[in-house]
Amino acid sequence: MPEKTTISIIKCDVGSLVGHHTVPKPLLDIGEKRLREAQKNGLVNSHYVFHAGDDLELLMVHQKGENNPDIHKLAWDIFQEAAKKAADLKLYGAGQDILKAAFSGNVRGMGPGVAEMEIEERRSDPIVVFAADKTEPGAFNYPIFRIFADPFNTAGLVIDPNMGGGFKFEVLDTVKNKKVVLKCPEEMYELIALIGTPGRYVVSHVWRASDDLICAATSTTRLSLIAGKYVGKDDPVSIVRCQHGLPALGEAVAPFMHSYFVEGWMRGSHWGPLMPVGLKDAKCVAFDGPPRIVALGLQVSHGKIACDDDGTPMISDLFEDPSFDLARREAGEYAVVLRRMGEFDPARLGAEAMEYTTLPKVLEKLKDRFKKA
Ligand code: F6R
Ligand code: MG
Ligand code: MG
Repeated sequence: MPEKTTISIIKCDVGSLVGHHTVPKPLLDIGEKRLREAQKNGLVNSHYVFHAGDDLELLMVHQKGENNPDIHKLAWDIFQEAAKKAADLKLYGAGQDILKAAFSGNVRGMGPGVAEMEIEERRSDPIVVFAADKTEPGAFNYPIFRIFADPFNTAGLVIDPNMGGGFKFEVLDTVKNKKVVLKCPEEMYELIALIGTPGRYVVSHVWRASDDLICAATSTTRLSLIAGKYVGKDDPVSIVRCQHGLPALGEAVAPFMHSYFVEGWMRGSHWGPLMPVGLKDAKCVAFDGPPRIVALGLQVSHGKIACDDDGTPMISDLFEDPSFDLARREAGEYAVVLRRMGEFDPARLGAEAMEYTTLPKVLEKLKDRFKKA
């Protein structure tokens, strides 16, 4: 049996420069230094450190499998060290997503977000890693649906017989902590019935139905459900596998040619347009946003990220492309339209979602002043 390759993206808000908008170099440097050491020691084979808004993102390619305690511990230790540095520098929100004190084998349920995919490498395996800030895992429901189930997005569903069998979607109910697998196209309507409520139902995995080939994995953390109070949104990550009987790279990024609305933005309390951006623009400024997403393209090759001649992993900054200018402009326009509404629905999230914000504390003050009407 050939050794399998695992792509792990583990992320955490460890503290930010000036509010919640970006991760400064000293924190990125800690990730880079520690992952370089881990690469020397043979724990990981390749790594790439970047940020999406105020989230420090550690991309690791290795052969230790999913949920490996050593890989998770490495990420946890990096986040601890970076959070300490953030605290020393008095950066904002130092250690924001580190919700538990002691590590117990896996970062899931402790604050950081995780998406992992263990694969048997095909002859060539193109991968896209998505990372978003100021939104939540359900923000991926819409593009993942379009990529793997919508023939108006993915021509391969119609044209490539290898995709004709459709795809299976695992949907997590984040409130009841239960999951269900639905198959498209047969159960498309039921799938949409669930994932059209992205604040609760999250697509966590996708497989090709004909052979159960894994093709997408998304983080599913709900920080507020872990902490029992508002602690910011969950700023999700996702891994999508492309080409040769799977959606082409171009089909995997096509849903982002237009902006669409996601929950999050300022104080995790507003609908906002998702803006696809290159890494250089991955900082959330206007009204702490608008929510942003970056997409990194890479090839896995013999347990690593394919590297150039000097050993640097070859990463393509996919949204750093004029094809996404229209989506960026739309996002800018939708943003100002929504902001004119201030704190009135539908700019602000509905009452149920606001339960997970700091608003209930404000309403609590009025509780005794209500008289029978
Ligand atoms: C959203 C987010 C920010 C903060 C906002 C207020 O996920 O992190 O929009 O909610 O900047 O932050 P505090 O309460 O820390 O002043
Ligand atoms: Mg933050
Ligand atoms: Mg964030």
